[in-house]
Amino acid sequence: MNKQLLIAVVAASPLISLPAVAFEKGDIIVRGGAANVSPNDSSSNINVGGDLGFGIEVNDDTQLKLTAAYFISDRWNVEVLAATPFNHDIDFGTSDPLGTGDVLGELKHLPPTITLNYYLPVGNEAFKPYVGAGLNYTIFFEEEFTGANRNIGLNDLELDNSFGIAIQVGFDYMVNDQWFVNSSIRWIDIDTKASFNLNGTPGSVGDIEVDPLVYSLSLGYRF
Ligand code: NI
Repeated sequence: MNKQLLIAVVAASPLISLPAVAFEKGDIIVRGGAANVSPNDSSSNINVGGDLGFGIEVNDDTQLKLTAAYFISDRWNVEVLAATPFNHDIDFGTSDPLGTGDVLGELKHLPPTITLNYYLPVGNEAFKPYVGAGLNYTIFFEEEFTGANRNIGLNDLELDNSFGIAIQVGFDYMVNDQWFVNSSIRWIDIDTKASFNLNGTPGSVGDIEVDPLVYSLSLGYRF
């Protein structure tokens, strides 16, 4: 490189370089937004004094979510996910089999998740894609049958909590040094089983695979 060209490049570099917004070891970022839990569910058949020949389905829900992440190096962070409780309707796996309507009941859950993420050495100063893997613990609560199903004697619905792996892809897009937008897709392995009783006869659904995709869109801030 000749001297004049070198001087020209050095002189121009402040104009062509993007803001220095690389994440660094020790950074803490928080992201708040919306998350949609969309189950890819399947279930074994309901059993109550025998196999009823149909299972259950779990519908989707959207809630507020908050994540916080700490950078253990320039490219790796550890992230925790929290959310307001998700509230899902549970349908029968077939239309109105008991004459009580299509909806069997509802449940709430909280899916705290811890993830180790790696920022890929691609993109640029603004666009930061990452991949992650971690562990999820899903806590089910306030499981209940609809009034029509309680009226025929269904009660005491309970789902076991679930412990499983979670993986994700996502990106941060820097708006300036502090603020960014984020989008991610997670897959969480949530497997559970249900117990209940029908007029004193114990019932169960032995294997419920919820295995949702969780789509989220957030605004983020770097401290
Ligand atoms: Ni599963």
